[in-house]
Amino acid sequence: METGYYQLSARTPDERIIMEAGAVLRRGGLVAFPTETVYGLGGNGYLTESVKAIYQAKGRPSDNPLILHIAEMAMLDDLAKSVPESAKRAVEAFWPGPLTIIVPKSDKVPLTVTGGLDTVAVRFPSSLIAQRLIQAAGVPIAAPSANLSGRPSPTSASAVMEDLNGRIDMILDGGTCPIGVESTVLDCSVDVPVILRPGGITYEMLTEVLPQVKLDPGFTVGAAVAPKAPGMKYRHYAPQAPVLLFEGEPDRVRPAMAERLTQELAKGRKVGLLICDEWCSLFSGATATAAFGPLKAPQEAALRVFAALRFFDHQPVDIILAQGIADAGIGRAVMNRLRKAAGQQIVRL
Ligand code: TXA
Ligand code: MG
Repeated sequence: METGYYQLSARTPDERIIMEAGAVLRRGGLVAFPTETVYGLGGNGYLTESVKAIYQAKGRPSDNPLILHIAEMAMLDDLAKSVPESAKRAVEAFWPGPLTIIVPKSDKVPLTVTGGLDTVAVRFPSSLIAQRLIQAAGVPIAAPSANLSGRPSPTSASAVMEDLNGRIDMILDGGTCPIGVESTVLDCSVDVPVILRPGGITYEMLTEVLPQVKLDPGFTVGAAVAPKAPGMKYRHYAPQAPVLLFEGEPDRVRPAMAERLTQELAKGRKVGLLICDEWCSLFSGATATAAFGPLKAPQEAALRVFAALRFFDHQPVDIILAQGIADAGIGRAVMNRLRKAAGQQIVRL
């Protein structure tokens, strides 16, 4: 299939292109589009065939449910059987934006979207291109991140091209995504709301409107408890080379990473480093280095983490040594993605 590629302004998107993309979606085609978090791979959320095509294009297991994207509050009432009080409070505070809520699903939502679950994930993105596209389609858009299953999520149209060119109908290029990690997934279908995936809206922000909110203990790969969001159980976000993640106080992480670098080099292996700006001049011998910004700027790390992981796929590295950051605020989302990219390979100091 020939994939149409269109560049759009994020502030004033060309209406003709939006209308064309909306028509493609309405008739069941697939369109990759930018959101404030990452690029999404959109299909018509009411068409089972279209939803199946999404799973196929991504190579994603069909038990891993999709998020339905909406562009007006009224669309939530079509998709939810009921909207719990916790969901109302959360969306009032954070929609449109990088928050996905899980609520009981209505009969309108195909079971292919929810992977057979009786709950549905709904998000109202703040990206103008995303909003206009949903309005033009006139239906909720089912959209996972627009990467091949298991690969780092795409934060630019070129990353989408890398994975999906030739597999989908259209790519809308709206530039780089301003947040860089996916939305927070908040389960509101239970008595006490639970964060199933940390993301753009932080735990700290959510506690301000939902003081009782909890973090799912199943986040990290290798956690004793199985994660409740089906997607969180897979190794994920992974570049081709194995990632070894170093967590702990920077004063202990730095010498440990330096020592490991020396050991790997002695074995004749080519090493990639993912480290903060401040450390770039402190290590030598690495084949490729990606910086995630200043150590004290987790927002910047969120912006860069996926592009950095993808960068290493273009470098001849045998292993990637990654520096962890503080597990708080948006840093919690960054660490969750890095831990998943690393699988079980974590050095805790
Ligand atoms: O920022 C985002 O959320 C991006 C953009 C495109 O909107 N989308 C995204 O979708 O990250 P995806 O499919 O890569 O991740 C959706 C996550 C998965 O971990 C999935 O298991 C979980 O949400 N999820 C979806 N429906 C669920 C449900 N009914 N119950 C529990 N978890 C659910
Ligand atoms: Mg994804």
